[in-house]
Amino acid sequence: VTALAPLGQQMAPYACQRRTPLLHSNQPLTEALETLAEEAGFSGSEGRSLAFTRAASVLKALPGQLSALEELGPLPGIGEHSRRVIQDVLEDGVSVEVERVKLSERYRTMKLFTKIFGVGVRTASRWYQEGIRTLVDLQERNTKLTRQQQAGLQHYEDLNTPVERGEAESIGRMVQEAVQRFLPGASVTLAGGFRRGKPRGHDVDLLLTHPEAGREAGLLSRVVSWLDSQGLILYQHSQENSFALHEGPEPPGGRDVLDRFERCFSIFRLEVQGRPGAARGWKAVRVDLVVAPVGQFPFALLGWTGSRHFERELRRFAGHERKMVLNSHTLYDTRLNLFLPAASEEEIFQHLGLEYVPPTQRNA
Ligand code: TTP
Ligand code: MN
Ligand code: MN
Ligand code: MN
Repeated sequence: VTALAPLGQQMAPYACQRRTPLLHSNQPLTEALETLAEEAGFSGSEGRSLAFTRAASVLKALPGQLSALEELGPLPGIGEHSRRVIQDVLEDGVSVEVERVKLSERYRTMKLFTKIFGVGVRTASRWYQEGIRTLVDLQERNTKLTRQQQAGLQHYEDLNTPVERGEAESIGRMVQEAVQRFLPGASVTLAGGFRRGKPRGHDVDLLLTHPEAGREAGLLSRVVSWLDSQGLILYQHSQENSFALHEGPEPPGGRDVLDRFERCFSIFRLEVQGRPGAARGWKAVRVDLVVAPVGQFPFALLGWTGSRHFERELRRFAGHERKMVLNSHTLYDTRLNLFLPAASEEEIFQHLGLEYVPPTQRNA
């Protein structure tokens, strides 16, 4: 007799309706599922990838450690394939399928290549098909690389060394200092994984704004030029703001993650002390700088805090359950034909009729 209620009994169907802490009790299971999600992504099977990501995300929100598949109950969002993987890991400690993927030449090579800044699945896949297998191969064959990929390759080791919270904070202060020079009163906010409480991450995501709308225009290029002149920037690629409110909202499912803020994808040169054995006193760190007008700031903050899956679920919920279009700029109600302004993240959740989920519980 199972006297215990299934662990997943109260689980809401959308990740944005759940609280997902950073640390959870089912790490080996989510790791296995996320490996399969990644592998499906490498093969261009977005639907399959999403199915594994959804299953992993559900497990992250469970209140305790799963010890048998039956405890899940009829949970939403965990398909048959995922259940089989979960069962294998619970029974044998590993899934043979996952272990096979991890050892496969294709998976390992795709992982190696997609860890280069500026290399996505399509490029990595093409290189793999051309028979390229290592970073040395890439260089020896004079493979055509973009400026971004060249920088990525040049700083490969540093960029694949996690950024510590302290390092992210010191980059935040560097940017804040530069921002103050050109626009006193402007603010710099640490978003991304660090805002969700992660102790380390793959980059530093910083959001810039000013309390007076319009004052932020032109700020980014000045800040970046100045940092560059101080020798603090190893690579940068800026993009102008291309968002125009009068165009109306993007259709749902259109440009899902990418937004149109003025932004800069960069690599900073961060001075680091006491790196034993290190030949140099600095480290290359990936930094994303984004500028939002104050009226869009709560949407930008919500959009740039992640996790990616949490964002995807928020947008899916908005579209399917509320007939609203949410992006990093605005929230649009298609039934009322109007934009719903918000002065805080809390207000956006209110418009959506969702219970507020604080950043540290968005690790879906
Ligand atoms: P990332 O920096 O890619 O991821 P992360 O900060 O959650 O984790 P990591 O430690 O690996 O850096 O993205 C942060 C958020 O920014 C993510 O929720 C999606 C959002 N984002 C956009 O909205 N537009 C973009 O163009 C990019 C690259 C990210
Ligand atoms: Mn299947
Ligand atoms: Mn990040
Ligand atoms: Mn980022």
